[in-house]
Amino acid sequence: MTTPAPGIDPAEFQLMRRYIESHCGLHLSDEKTYLVDTRLTPLMAELGCRSFYELHAKASADTSHALRDRIIDALTTHETLWFRDSSPFAFLEAEVLPKLAARARAGAREATRIWCAACSTGQEAYSTAMTVLECARSAVGPPARLVEIVATDVSPSVLFLARAGRYDGFAMGRGLPDHMRERYFTRSGELWAVGEEVKRMVRFEKHNLQDSFGRLGVFDVVLCRNVLMYFADELKRDILQRMRAALRPGGYLLLGSAESPAGYCDRFELVKHGRGVFYRLA
Ligand SMILES: C[S@@+](CC[C@H](N)C(=O)[O-])C[C@H]1O[C@@H](n2cnc3c(N)ncnc32)[C@H](O)[C@@H]1O
Repeated sequence: MTTPAPGIDPAEFQLMRRYIESHCGLHLSDEKTYLVDTRLTPLMAELGCRSFYELHAKASADTSHALRDRIIDALTTHETLWFRDSSPFAFLEAEVLPKLAARARAGAREATRIWCAACSTGQEAYSTAMTVLECARSAVGPPARLVEIVATDVSPSVLFLARAGRYDGFAMGRGLPDHMRERYFTRSGELWAVGEEVKRMVRFEKHNLQDSFGRLGVFDVVLCRNVLMYFADELKRDILQRMRAALRPGGYLLLGSAESPAGYCDRFELVKHGRGVFYRLA
């Protein structure tokens, strides 16, 4: 291993900032210089790069994009937990899934489609699947076999963990009610595995929110939570307008608690439920 020269200089920071923003949308303010430095220095050491210029040149020349993925992985935040913020899942249970069940009962042929955009290690998509299963069990939601959940992320490493669906005690302890753990997981050694009933409802795919949503199809519900806040205004506007186009009429958009379409896309009406605020295509 070569030890990189200590510290990132301002020109190197600008170079890496442009690189990361163009490849995953992450907008880094000047205060994030330390983050680029501390998170990429171990990768540089591993690759024998003596400067960020060298790392940038290597990544730009790597046609497999493996190094680009590692840089994105190192700089993006993957924080997530089960039933995060709870209110979106209460909203799905109380309003969204009963409406979709009524549509299915009225003879609609199409399956209910839910998209978890920026799904990280899978907790949000599996929490959604468990909510669907619970609602189907009590007959307030559509039958689970008629619900398809597509979960996407730009980061291959989080998708690998999401697809594996195995979580350690620390991850399991974050937000998952005991009765859900007992009902939908099996223990194997130190890990807990998501049961097949939940797992088969979710399809994980690599997808960058900067790219077209065309191949993903149309959705009744889009959860895009705790990711837009990392993007610049122009990209937020572009994503929200394309999400509007990816929603069926009357479809729902569920954002993170600090995020809103206001000022970026005016086609959503606000729906309040409990302590949460959600958006419906007007
Ligand atoms: C903070 S996590 C949020 C996870 C989950 N939605 C939640 O709220 O718990 C943000 C996720 O967004 C993903 N991400 C960042 N930029 C992305 C992009 N351009 N396209 C798709 N996913 C992206 C990251 O890899 C990360 O897994």
